[in-house]
Amino acid sequence: MVKKQNQAARETVILAGNERISDSYFRLTADCDSHYLEAAAGQFVTLRMPDQKEPLLRRPFSIHQVLAAETGKPQIEILYRVVGGFTERLSQAGPGSLLDLLGPLGRGFSVKHHHQPVAIVAGGIGVAPLVFLASQLKDAGTDMDQVSVFIGGRSENDILCQNFFKKLGTRAVVATEDGSAGYHGLVTAPLEKWAQNKEASMIYACGPHGMLTAVGKIARSKNIACEVSIETLMACGLGVCMGCAVKTQDKTQGYSHVCKDGPVFDAAVL
Ligand SMILES: Cc1cc2nc3c(=O)[nH]c(=O)nc-3n(C[C@H](O)[C@H](O)[C@H](O)COP(=O)(O)OP(=O)(O)OC[C@H]3O[C@@H](n4cnc5c(N)ncnc54)[C@H](O)[C@@H]3O)c2cc1C
Ligand code: FES
Repeated sequence: MVKKQNQAARETVILAGNERISDSYFRLTADCDSHYLEAAAGQFVTLRMPDQKEPLLRRPFSIHQVLAAETGKPQIEILYRVVGGFTERLSQAGPGSLLDLLGPLGRGFSVKHHHQPVAIVAGGIGVAPLVFLASQLKDAGTDMDQVSVFIGGRSENDILCQNFFKKLGTRAVVATEDGSAGYHGLVTAPLEKWAQNKEASMIYACGPHGMLTAVGKIARSKNIACEVSIETLMACGLGVCMGCAVKTQDKTQGYSHVCKDGPVFDAAVL
């Protein structure tokens, strides 16, 4: 079941929190409209800072969580890594700053009650939408004992949200390329071992392109359904400029818009 995906709306929201959680990673929180309570994990928003002219183009970020408030408005969380001009300025914004928020956009993951083992695979900042996904799988009735989360990164500082996944009741496996935490090597190695399980039914993944290709290959070789969320550079974020086109096998012209047809795709079409 793909969650009903709401019409996107644009609003100015007030930053409630913006904390550094590790190295160059931050988590921001802002009050948002109640239509985000209907957002599907894997959908994204685009952001601007209304008081700044640069950058001209809005920047896309996955929805990390939507927290239902007992009173007042729900809150949206975004987990981000500082990589350039916009994210640098965003990291300096304090509570009370204004943000121009447009969303939810794109197509999310298919969330359902899984009865058989499921893997969630995160590479670096790719963990951002997968926290929301794990929460939604739990809400859909999936037994968290059946969910294994593989979190990979270059080093210990790139391993995020491990405690969240553990608290949710999933099995969390860490892999780092430099061996500073967990398994020493690529996250696809422990995933490959997991995929030997004949009962395995689904893999969800988000991370660097190379990791997604390797995850798709493992899924195909074991006949396991697989959905991946991919990142591209984006301009409009609304399906009108072709700025985010990727080659796929399910459209007659051979290309899909990541912002509108994705960012979540069945790995088989990539
Ligand atoms: C659907 C989607 C969801 C995303 N979700 C998140 C998220 O949850 N958290 C997060 O931190 N980032 C996320 N990103 C990436 C984020 O949009 C970029 O990091 C951000 O736009 C960088 O803006 P900037 O001005 O700071 O850096 P820029 O100066 O624009 O870029 C800095 C460097 O990063 C590279 N870069 C920028 N965007 C991308 C991209 N999409 N893919 C690969 N390289 C890129 C640029 O080529 C450049 O080398 C997402 C992107 C997409 C398309
Ligand atoms: S970013 Fe413009 S079509 Fe996707």
